[in-house]
Amino acid sequence: MPHKVGILDSTLREGEQTPGVLFSKNQRIEIAKLLSNAHIAMIEAGHPLVSADIYEAIREIMEMKASGTINSEIIAHSRAVNSDIDSAASLNVDRIAIFYGISDIHLDYKTHKSRTEALDIIYDSVSYASSTGIPVRFTAEDASRTDINFLRDVIKTAVEAGADRVSIADTLGILTPEKTAYIFNNISDIKNVEYDFHGHNDMGMALANGLAAAESGATIIHTTVNGLGERVGITPLQAFGVLLNYHMNIDAVNLMSLKPLSELVEKYSGITMPPNYPVTGANAFTHKSGVHVGGIINNARTYEFIDPARLGIQRAFTIDKYSGKHALREKLESMGMHLDENKISGMLEKIKNNNIVYSEDDLKAIASSDNQ
Ligand code: COA
Ligand code: ZN
Repeated sequence: MPHKVGILDSTLREGEQTPGVLFSKNQRIEIAKLLSNAHIAMIEAGHPLVSADIYEAIREIMEMKASGTINSEIIAHSRAVNSDIDSAASLNVDRIAIFYGISDIHLDYKTHKSRTEALDIIYDSVSYASSTGIPVRFTAEDASRTDINFLRDVIKTAVEAGADRVSIADTLGILTPEKTAYIFNNISDIKNVEYDFHGHNDMGMALANGLAAAESGATIIHTTVNGLGERVGITPLQAFGVLLNYHMNIDAVNLMSLKPLSELVEKYSGITMPPNYPVTGANAFTHKSGVHVGGIINNARTYEFIDPARLGIQRAFTIDKYSGKHALREKLESMGMHLDENKISGMLEKIKNNNIVYSEDDLKAIASSDNQ
C-alpha cells in the first residue's frame, strides 16, 4: 500500500527568510488563505518570537482557523528555548515545531554544546512544549550532515519527550535522491513517529530529494511557493505538487491553485519567476519548434506531460523561423484566417528570412501583403 504524503508549505516562515523578502501582516493572511484553499495539509505560519507583526498575523490566522475560513494545520516555529515555546503556545497553534542543529559543526560552532548536552536540550524543550498539550514536531536541523547513529539517538529522544513528528532537514542542500533514501531507510524502524523532509536547493536537488523522501517513507514534504527560502530556497510547491501527482498518484495540492499562488507570491515577495520556470512559468506550456507544434496539434501528449487545462493554464505556440507549416496553419486558423497551402508556404518563407518572433499583427500584415 503506498503511504499518504502531504505538503507542508513554509512560504510564510522559510519563504520570508529569502534575502530581500518581507511580507506584511495582511499579505501573510492572504497567502495563508490561498494555501488553505489549495488543500495544503500544513502551513508553517512563522516564528512568532521573531517580531510582533508575525505574532499578530499568526493570531489572526488562528482566528480564521477557529471560524473555519482556514482549514490547514497551523504550525509555529520555535528554537529549543522556553521563551520561543511560550510565545508559540500562547497562540494555541495546532503544532509547535522546535528546531535544533544537530551536526557536529552546528554543535561545535553555533550552540557550543556536546552531543550529550544537545540530547538533554532536545528532551527538555520537546517535553516542555508537549506539556502544553499542543502536538510537537522536532526538526533535526542539518540532519543530512549528521552521523546516522546520532541522528537515530536524536529522533528517539524527541519521540520519548513527546514529539509525534520529526523533520529531517537537509539544511545545506547537500543530499542526492540516493542519499535521501539512505537516511529514511535507516530511521524507518523507529516507532511512534512520522517524518517530514525539509530540503534546501543549494545544488538544485531539492525537488528530486523531496520526491525521494516521499518515496522512502516521509509523510510530509516541506515546500514554498516559487521555491523561496534562505539563500536559494527549498523544494518549490508547484513542481513538487505535480511530481507527487505524476509519480505517486497523490493529490496533495489543488493543481488549479498553483498558478494563482505563484502570481500572488511573486507580487508580495517582489521575486518574479523566469519564463522557463517549471509548471507555472510563462513558457511551461508554450511550444516553439515546428516538429513539436506539429506533434501537439495531432495529440498534445506528444510534448506535454500533463494537460495544462488541469492547471488552469492555456497552451500557446510561438511563430518564428523555427515554425513549420502545421504550426503556421494552426495559428492562422486560430485567428480566423483560412489560407491555402501555397500562401502558407509563401508566408513561411518570409518568416524564415526574418529573425523575429511574429505577433498576430505581424502575421496579418504578411498574409495581406502576400495577397496583393
Ligand atoms: N535552539 C536554541 N538556541 C539556538 C538555536 C536553537 N535551535 N539556534 C540557535 N540558538 C542560539 C544561538 O546559539 C545563539 O545563542 P547565544 O545568544 O547564546 O549566542 C542564539 O540562539 C541566536 O543568536 P541571535 O540570533 O544573535 O540571538 P537573538 O537572541 O538576538 O535573536 C532570534 C534570536 C531567533 C529572535 C533572531 O535570531 C531572529 O529573529 N531570527 C529569525 C528566525 C531564525 O533565525 N530562524 C532560523 C530558522 S532555521
Ligand atoms: Zn530551511
